[in-house]
Amino acid sequence: MVKDFQIDTIRSQFPLLHQRVNGSELIYLDNAATTQKPSAVIEAIDHYYRKINSNVHRGVHHLSVQATNASEEARGLVQQLLNARKVEEIIFTSGTTESINLVANSYGRRNLKEGDEVLISTLEHHSNIVPWQLICEEKKATLKVIPINDAGELNLEDYYALLSERTKLVAVNHVSNALGTLNSIKEMCSAAKKVGAVFLVDGAQAVAHLKVDVQDLDCDFYCFSGHKFYGPTGIGVLFGKEDILEEMPPFLGGGEMIKSVTFEKTSFNELPYKFEAGTPAIAQMVGLAEALRFWFSIDHQSLFQYEKELLAYASDSLKEISELKIYGDAKNKLSVISFNVGNIHPFDLGTLLDQMGIAVRTGHHCTEPLMNRFGIPGTVRASFAMYNSFSEVNRLKKAIEKAVDLLS
Ligand code: ALA
Repeated sequence: MVKDFQIDTIRSQFPLLHQRVNGSELIYLDNAATTQKPSAVIEAIDHYYRKINSNVHRGVHHLSVQATNASEEARGLVQQLLNARKVEEIIFTSGTTESINLVANSYGRRNLKEGDEVLISTLEHHSNIVPWQLICEEKKATLKVIPINDAGELNLEDYYALLSERTKLVAVNHVSNALGTLNSIKEMCSAAKKVGAVFLVDGAQAVAHLKVDVQDLDCDFYCFSGHKFYGPTGIGVLFGKEDILEEMPPFLGGGEMIKSVTFEKTSFNELPYKFEAGTPAIAQMVGLAEALRFWFSIDHQSLFQYEKELLAYASDSLKEISELKIYGDAKNKLSVISFNVGNIHPFDLGTLLDQMGIAVRTGHHCTEPLMNRFGIPGTVRASFAMYNSFSEVNRLKKAIEKAVDLLS
């Protein structure tokens, strides 16, 4: 086990973890849905509302200036997280879903036309399927899908074969929320560039588990959500390359995104504000800034090694359970184990695990086409975060065995 990763110190910073659920110590394994928040994030939001709550940008008074400064700090920290070239390339949205919808509605509506193709993958969350379906239908473009193999990996040869001068945009997740597959984004981006397509990465499941460098990936758009990154709900990020964002029309109209308005014509604000209509999620930006400071305080090499060893240990342990089948056995995989046991319905297993204090997610994980590919209605999903421990994995294994005994 990684010696320099201080799991107890990490756990002590997450107050929610220290409680009993249904009579047992809580084991929280639903981190792909949302992570828990460290005390520093909770306190930053509390402090914001107690001491500096005010609207931003337009105010000259003390509180408004403080709120503006505190919330805008998040932008520079996100720039640092993603290694974006400019802070203007960081746009705040309500979450990954809105970020993808922004690109589909702004870039997609402006650039797609009849006969064009948009490429997504079998691994996508509904939020990286439906926005593309909607805009493709409107613009009479075609949505194409990269297939996967039985291990849950994208077939890159099939991907290369699908790319052509008709491909205008490729949208793929960095890490699959349902299987944990880590996709070869850099190679995929480079291939898309060769046919002149822009590349969007849904990084919702990636940012908390690996180092993201948008300049190295050379992607055009990268999206993630604050709440899957130890921050608050209601805040997300869209990174976009400056030259592409400059060319895109606004997504939502309203205050803040304008330079000047007459009844005849409106001119738009500069980046990033052109895409941030209305009062932003100020408290959430403050909370996200604190989540980023927390993230930067951690030794990432130790963390990534710890998470890798924990996932390998959990996979090996669960595979020892009779009739347990793991879906998604990719060579490169992070933080998620999706499984079923025999013919037991995932919901029944999840319900019994809950009675033993273990929080997992059951169902299709908003990836119905992926579940159809495997011919199953859903799975039980255990998804890990930095505060999960090897002893929790041992308890999970025992609890599954007990539940299976009861259900068989
Ligand atoms: N997208 C979230 C999940 O995978 C909700 O659970």
